[in-house]
Amino acid sequence: MTSAVQRLPAEQRYAEELAALLTADQGPRPGGWRLSPRAVRSFVLGDGDRISRKIEGNDALVERAIVTLSGGRGLLLAGEPGTAKSLLSELLAAAISGCSTLTVQGGAGVVEEHIRYGWNYALLLRDGPNQKALVPGPLYAAMAGGQLLRFEEITRCATEVQDCLIPVLSDRILHLPELKDEQDAWLLSRPGFNVIATANLRDRGVNEMSAALKRRFNFELMQALGRREQAALIAREARRQLDEQAIEVELPGEVIELLATVFDELKRGEAAGVAVERPATALSTAEAIGVVCNAASHCWYFGSSRLMPRHLGQFVAGAVVQGEAGDAERFAAYLRLLRQQRAGLAEWQDFLDGC
Ligand SMILES: Nc1ncnc2c1ncn2[C@@H]1O[C@H](COP(=O)(O)OP(=O)(O)OP(=O)(O)O)[C@@H](O)[C@H]1O
Ligand SMILES: [Mg+2]
Repeated sequence: MTSAVQRLPAEQRYAEELAALLTADQGPRPGGWRLSPRAVRSFVLGDGDRISRKIEGNDALVERAIVTLSGGRGLLLAGEPGTAKSLLSELLAAAISGCSTLTVQGGAGVVEEHIRYGWNYALLLRDGPNQKALVPGPLYAAMAGGQLLRFEEITRCATEVQDCLIPVLSDRILHLPELKDEQDAWLLSRPGFNVIATANLRDRGVNEMSAALKRRFNFELMQALGRREQAALIAREARRQLDEQAIEVELPGEVIELLATVFDELKRGEAAGVAVERPATALSTAEAIGVVCNAASHCWYFGSSRLMPRHLGQFVAGAVVQGEAGDAERFAAYLRLLRQQRAGLAEWQDFLDGC
């Protein structure tokens, strides 16, 4: 049986862990927080016992991120694609505010109304601007509820749109000039409100952040994992995702290692001492997990109970070659090198047969 929804928000997915942490939590809490910083850390990094580890590596960064959110500055998680920026921001919001869904998804079409508040136009035309006609956006709701606002891919929004956060982060007040009543015209934020933004360092089509907005954030750079940690993470995450879909294909460790090696060699531009031209695509851990899940699903639906290197080979090109000029040739050159270097090795031969 598969579950009725595809993916639950973190506060529901880990509701039992959060409840256990809340019951045992004795530590001091910043205003408006549901858990102490120590318990939030355990939620994200695990406690070696009943609370599972959810973010690999980056332990010191996670602690600094928690401390930042308890203070007066926003948190900006920057880094390469697929380094768990969004996942960390979701987990922090779930643990600190009990809600990870007050989220703005940055993009070229986002305007201030999507962030601050909008209007129910039928009520607005009938009664004029008043509280009833106002439709709270995620920023309004987070300030009023003393919760964290997640701003995903902030640099995908126009700089002027991003800048609507400046007065809010400085004064913790949202001005609603349309409401004439003095009391309603200013929304004062409750304790617990803050902003976690994420930004991608590599993607095209991003906008600058103004210096004034940058000054209101602490920047943290998420680090990509090493090859070994990456292989362990790919195996664990792919298993979890496949279990959710009731796909019971065996994932041998050495096959996952092989995929981690392919991603690592292409990313570093070096295979067993020989230079390789690096593809322009990001080749993130998230994409490697996707390759394993696709290959395992292929096995499951087309009659194989064990993942083999050749199954991975069928899906790797889809992650490496994503329309960037020259990447198809770069990948083909890498495969030619593998044929020379590793022809006698059964696993690699099997992988190459699938490509
Ligand atoms: N260090 C890590 N710890 C745990 N999971 C990780 C880590 N790095 C990558 N992942 C996996 O990668 C998935 C994708 O991560 P996520 O979407 O949060 O990355 P991102 O940095 O926001 O990427 P993008 O820049 O593409 O938005 C996660 O759900 C998780 O399965
Ligand atoms: Mg993201």
